Amino acid sequence: MLRYGKDPFNPFPIISNSVSNVICSMAFGRRFDYEDIEFKTMLSLMSRALEISVNSHVLLVNICPWLYYLPFGPFRELRQIEFDVTAFLKKIIAQHRDTLDRENPRDFIDMYLLQVEEERESNNESSFNEDYLFFIIGDLFIAGTDTTTNTLLWCLLYMSLHSEVQEKVHTEIEVVIGRDRAPSLTDKAHMPFTEATIMEVQRMTVVVPLSVPRMASATAVLRGYTIPKGSVIVPNLWSVHRDPNIWERPDDFQPTRFLDENGQLIKREMFIPFGIGKISRYSWNGLFCLKFGVRVALPKSLWHLPFSYFVIENNIHC
Ligand code: HEM
Repeated sequence: MLRYGKDPFNPFPIISNSVSNVICSMAFGRRFDYEDIEFKTMLSLMSRALEISVNSHVLLVNICPWLYYLPFGPFRELRQIEFDVTAFLKKIIAQHRDTLDRENPRDFIDMYLLQVEEERESNNESSFNEDYLFFIIGDLFIAGTDTTTNTLLWCLLYMSLHSEVQEKVHTEIEVVIGRDRAPSLTDKAHMPFTEATIMEVQRMTVVVPLSVPRMASATAVLRGYTIPKGSVIVPNLWSVHRDPNIWERPDDFQPTRFLDENGQLIKREMFIPFGIGKISRYSWNGLFCLKFGVRVALPKSLWHLPFSYFVIENNIHC
């Protein structure tokens, strides 16, 4: 941002690249250069896949899974993206396998490959295998990148629109973190206004509006409705976040709705950007969504910036 000065620019590629690099350095043990063509292509393919998945007939795949195999339109495009991203991830796993040093594991993939070997010797029934590794890496890479990127982009947009909020967030960053060290997750507890602002952005925008579809593992009755075993459940997080029975003036941007009269954070049960149920709240998955996301990245991106940098322009260029 500092590099562009007062010139307009599109923050998407920079934010998406840096967010994904956090995940890549943890999972693949490496970062990718901002000019790396293959990586940039992967990022734009993933962004496109998300767009098609939430904003086209592909949504119907949740109800009729066979639609996914239609040989035309967004269905075909999505399959091609899946093919390309799969090839990219499998290549990275293969590179790790070929250069694995048992004494010096470099990252998550190496640790997992070592575990696969160990389990193969001791336990034939083990679920540790390279297929699972691929799914885990894919989950982290795909589920983590666009969710966090889009949340950060929404934060920048809302703060451009609400300079008084931007000013308060910036003051909190200056007071709690200062300029001599990097932000850390423990700062979160001392930055209620920033936290409330992130929560309000997440409430308003819900970057995964229909969560991830799940299937009922047993027949259940909920408020008189029978949900048969095998039903696909698509939770509409968006409707909960905009429900006027839950939130006062739900369409207004008001970070203070998450603060009490002493400026301390209020936990609100109906705030569910990471999904509903045990899986999103208590599992490693929920922890990933929460921890490796926006909480550290936002303060870092606002750190050195004067407020006037966030001005919305019509002619943004890449
Ligand atoms: C602001 C950021 C994020 C939001 C709003 C978000 C939201 C969600 C939601 C709504 C779900 C579905 C939960 C459910 O099953 O009910 C989910 C699943 C998941 N998220 Fe996140 N997430 C974020 C960031 C991340 C990050 C940074 C990672 C990892 C590095 C991650 C990894 C996952 C994984 C592995 C799943 C499970 C996917 C599956 O079941 O196939 N998320 N996330």
